[in-house]
Amino acid sequence: MSCRLQKYLADAQVASRRKAEEIILSGRVSVNGDIVTQLGTKVEDGDTVCVDGKEVRPVQKNIYIMLHKPEGYVTTAKEQFGRPAVLDLVDCGCRIYPVGRLDYDTSGLLLLTNDGELTYRLTHPKHNVEKTYIAQVEGTPSDEEMQRFRKGLEIDDYITAPAKIKILKKAALTTLKIVIHEGKNRQVRKMCDAIGHKVRRLKRVATGKLSLGDLEKGKYRQLTEEEIDYLKTL
Ligand code: URA
Repeated sequence: MSCRLQKYLADAQVASRRKAEEIILSGRVSVNGDIVTQLGTKVEDGDTVCVDGKEVRPVQKNIYIMLHKPEGYVTTAKEQFGRPAVLDLVDCGCRIYPVGRLDYDTSGLLLLTNDGELTYRLTHPKHNVEKTYIAQVEGTPSDEEMQRFRKGLEIDDYITAPAKIKILKKAALTTLKIVIHEGKNRQVRKMCDAIGHKVRRLKRVATGKLSLGDLEKGKYRQLTEEEIDYLKTL
């Protein structure tokens, strides 16, 4: 990516764009060792920019995005085996990564950021952030099955932590609201399988207090300052 020298200097917090222009015109700026006084000079990735002989670099801004992931996308940076990746849906001009994952066939709330520390904290098993799902399952779980689900079930030689489950609607498929705070591979599907009710559709509607709201499938938005502050308190 390239950008104009005055923008580069502003992004490096040397000065405002207007002041940066004055600094360039006064001959204080060099690009790859050559003094540059031409406004609008393009700076490419890998160029070395110095002001008064001292190297300056753009301060990387953290970016926080909520995506409504559709089914049929892998939660990776690049497509896999011809399956499109969630990052194909987001155009933010910088490198970001998914926080945790949703299965190829699961839809819903997926956070994306370049804040590695926050990603680490949100995905570390110790930090146990609650995740809320709406699942449509075959059949209707009995009271006894729901109790087993709540207490913890064995999946893949692992006993799940206590979870919440509630029936929202009984129809051809039963709609359940499920809250878990772990993130084992395909955990909700496996927990529903363990009580004999196969998941047909799965959507994550909230991560902690952040909810998907009416964000359309396939669309994304930047998190608000409040939402970012909240995530940092988790
Ligand atoms: N549990 C699942 O089974 N799948 C997901 O994508 C997320 C949680």
